[in-house]
Amino acid sequence: WVLMATGRSPTNIAVIKYWGKRDEALILPVNDSISVTLDPDHLSATTTVAASPAFPSDRMWLNGKEIELTGGRFQSCLREIRKRARDVEDKKKGIKIKKEDWEKLHVHIASYNNFPTAAGLASSAAGFACLVFTLGKLMNVNEDYGELSSIARQGSGSACRSIYGGFVKWCMGKNDNGSDSMAVQVVDESHWDELVIIIAVVSSKQKETSSTSGMRDSVETSPLLQYRAQTVVPGRILKMEEAIKNRDFESFARLTCADSNQFHAVCLDTSPPIFYMNDTSHRIISLVEKWNHAEGTPQVAYTFDAGPNAVLIARNRKTATLLLQRLLYCFPPQDNDLDSYMLGDKSIL
Ligand code: DP6
Repeated sequence: WVLMATGRSPTNIAVIKYWGKRDEALILPVNDSISVTLDPDHLSATTTVAASPAFPSDRMWLNGKEIELTGGRFQSCLREIRKRARDVEDKKKGIKIKKEDWEKLHVHIASYNNFPTAAGLASSAAGFACLVFTLGKLMNVNEDYGELSSIARQGSGSACRSIYGGFVKWCMGKNDNGSDSMAVQVVDESHWDELVIIIAVVSSKQKETSSTSGMRDSVETSPLLQYRAQTVVPGRILKMEEAIKNRDFESFARLTCADSNQFHAVCLDTSPPIFYMNDTSHRIISLVEKWNHAEGTPQVAYTFDAGPNAVLIARNRKTATLLLQRLLYCFPPQDNDLDSYMLGDKSIL
């Protein structure tokens, strides 16, 4: 027999960034972070997990290609879910699995992204959130979302925030064992649904420096990182939560842009410096800054992760349409600088 479960998780975009770990193995961050979860129709991972006594080992396929499961991160997630597994009974198929049997049962996992991995947008966030969620479903794990988020965190830090929709805060926690480092929902997906998120794919190349190794280098060499984590981010987190709760776009946009810029300043402050943005990214920042300045109040926020692609958040659908027109004007389709646009129709879950 084979028992299967399928799940889907969207990716998330941080508006107050996570950059730097205080514990590499447990993936514990140096500061809190806040993100917005995207609509699963646009950027998400879909994962099917199957368990059978006929499987001699655990195996995984990503977008149809088998990948090695040697990494500790995958094993941590699987181990934590297995620990919490409960009895499962499928009367129709005549299957009865006792909770202790899950230790001996191997799993096969097939995961797909609904966006091209090569687009440089492939985030481990959706993948690990989906893996943990779906394994939990298969093994009848009954933990709350906070607990699941702390397991997903051990796959990839940003994954802990993809367990929820809407705006989500990852609380860094204080405990050495990571038990209080988990995500909580700030507001759900219906709270601020006029926002529209546009992703401008500046380069479809894979990033040169992964987030994991980039942030390790920053922790070891950037004096700005310590200042940011201890002095700047705590105040920004409070202000960002307020802005989100009050749907105060002006504060939201100022904080989002400032935090993206400080994160990239930390990257430049790293030795050797890390350049995630390129000239096109800088041109997009100028375009938005000039527009916001001309309007007197922000209309669009920008944020960039560990790559050159721009995530643009427009205050409403009308502004999003104008933004797309401006982007198309500045970067005509024949301009190879900008590969494509991805417009989230209803971008917030
Ligand atoms: C710039 O979560 O990919 O996107 O924990 O090592 O897997 P690991 O790193 P990852 O880092 C994400 C960094 C970021 C900012 C953010 O999402 O908060």
